[in-house]
Amino acid sequence: MKIYDAKPILVGLAIFLGITTFPFWYNGGKASPPPEPKLDTPVISKMEKKECVASKDYMRKSHMALLNEWRTEAVRKANRYYVTAGGKLYPVSLQRGCLKCHSNKADFCDQCHNYIGLKPYCWDCHLSPQEKKTTTQVAEGE
Ligand code: HEC
Ligand code: HEC
Ligand code: HEC
Repeated sequence: MKIYDAKPILVGLAIFLGITTFPFWYNGGKASPPPEPKLDTPVISKMEKKECVASKDYMRKSHMALLNEWRTEAVRKANRYYVTAGGKLYPVSLQRGCLKCHSNKADFCDQCHNYIGLKPYCWDCHLSPQEKKTTTQVAEGE
């Protein structure tokens, strides 16, 4: 084989490898695109003004702090309702609050968390929307 024949072969080989290994690197860790948390749930789609329980900026940065606060309020002080800055009332609850609107946990919460390799342990006890209740999990709505 003459040396000038090598180039198309290498290009062909690169394309072949690219195609055959595509499924592996496309979904592989670092190569995946940044998360796009989806807001197109039934409840959010019906909202006239699409607002969270606090500003988007605050929620993006501090939802874990808010959740902590909610847990303390609910469990220690039995405050079951949260009033937003705009005067709206929401149940202080992961399931009946956050996940009522964000019912697409896999396409919302998990999108971001998977991206940074975070696995909040909350779902050991709390139900995520797709799951059926088991006796070991927290019963909601009582
Ligand atoms: C070991 C089990 C367990 C784990 C893990 C857990 N929780 Fe809970 N959580 C409970 C129980 C039990 C209650 C009380 C339920 C009630 O009184 O409505 C509760 C209540 C709450 C409440 C208020 C009520 C409600 O229905 O949501 C919030 C908010 C909450 N937890 C958030 C969290 C978050 C956020 C995490 C993860 C960082 C978490 N929890 C992890 C067991 C757990
Ligand atoms: C009444 C429906 C509703 C409830 C309840 C709700 N959210 Fe939201 N959430 C939204 C909407 C709508 C947006 C988009 C806000 C915007 O674009 O300004 C949003 C935005 C967010 C964001 C920012 C997403 C991004 O792209 O940066 C996070 C994080 C979030 N919510 C988490 C939560 C958590 C955690 C709870 C419970 C403590 C909660 N939400 C409760 C409707 C809700
Ligand atoms: C816009 C991206 C984004 C969305 C959407 C999002 N999170 Fe998070 N979440 C994060 C990041 C980033 C952290 C880690 C922050 C840190 O460690 O300072 C985090 C941390 C948390 C933690 C603390 C866990 C721990 O182990 O420290 C909880 C609880 C949590 N998120 C719950 C939720 C819930 C419930 C939803 C959906 C209703 C949600 N998040 C949606 C980005 C997001």
